Amino acid sequence: MMKIIAFHSYKGGTGKTHLSANLATVLAQRGHKTALLDLDFRGPNLQTLCGIEATVTINDLLFDPDLTGEDILVSFEEKYKIPLYAAFASTDFRKMGDIVRADKKQRQRSLKRILRLRDELSEAGFDYTIIDTSPGVQMESIDGLVISDATCLVLKADDFDISGTKSMVTQLYSLLDSKNYVVLNRVVAEKCPPEQGVWDNEDVQMVKRFEETITEEMRMEVITSIPCFCEVAREGSRSIFSIKHPEHYFSKYIEELATKLINGF
Ligand SMILES: Nc1ncnc2c1ncn2[C@@H]1O[C@H](COP(=O)(O)OP(=O)(O)OP(=O)(O)O)[C@@H](O)[C@H]1O
Ligand SMILES: [Mg+2]
Repeated sequence: MMKIIAFHSYKGGTGKTHLSANLATVLAQRGHKTALLDLDFRGPNLQTLCGIEATVTINDLLFDPDLTGEDILVSFEEKYKIPLYAAFASTDFRKMGDIVRADKKQRQRSLKRILRLRDELSEAGFDYTIIDTSPGVQMESIDGLVISDATCLVLKADDFDISGTKSMVTQLYSLLDSKNYVVLNRVVAEKCPPEQGVWDNEDVQMVKRFEETITEEMRMEVITSIPCFCEVAREGSRSIFSIKHPEHYFSKYIEELATKLINGF
């Protein structure tokens, strides 16, 4: 049965888009038929990351009952030789505004269409669907979280807002049926970047203490702590890192995350 994994955060810029695109890539590289959905209607940048200009987007699907998953999914089979498909959020300012201004009726319609898309993907034999969301408690992000089997709350270790994140976790995550994990991303330790991708003993202890504090405060498992890698930051939003650099330590961290998530189901 298809499993859905969402990446979410309290604050922006924690790495949701990069982590979701790279996780989807790693799963597809393993031969799993994987869909990557952009539900970040407020500030979409998956199109840039994938080097795609989508003509029909998830925005269109939410407003047009005649559209189906097939109309919006872009295949990467030919480009990357892996069973990866993506559906994007529109970067058209007008369509972004339609989402922001949607009334209660349209929001209900949107949720129904997202649920229908999930069923279509499942029927089409997808193994995994990975969802990128907007930070905070936007309705569309919540729709993404509601349909997920696992949620990764991404925290950027350097400007981590414990009270805001904690209140979101207490009020929203406690209502979710999914397995909820924390992903610590862009962790800066004393020796940064870590040699061979692995922290030395002092840094390991530092990261461990940080993970323990978060587990205690959030009552959620920290599934991984990913170092801040200059190469990833330098690459920015130009490409999916794991496609270009499968041997890099960042890609190894994503592979490990994929294995842990799969084993957790
Ligand atoms: N482990 C990492 N090491 C270094 N840089 C990283 C790492 N993960 C992400 N980044 C960088 O952090 C920046 C923000 O990442 P990204 O766009 O994925 O965040 P986001 O949570 O999706 O942001 P938004 O909330 O605005 O959608 C990007 O420039 C990316 O290259
Ligand atoms: Mg993003």
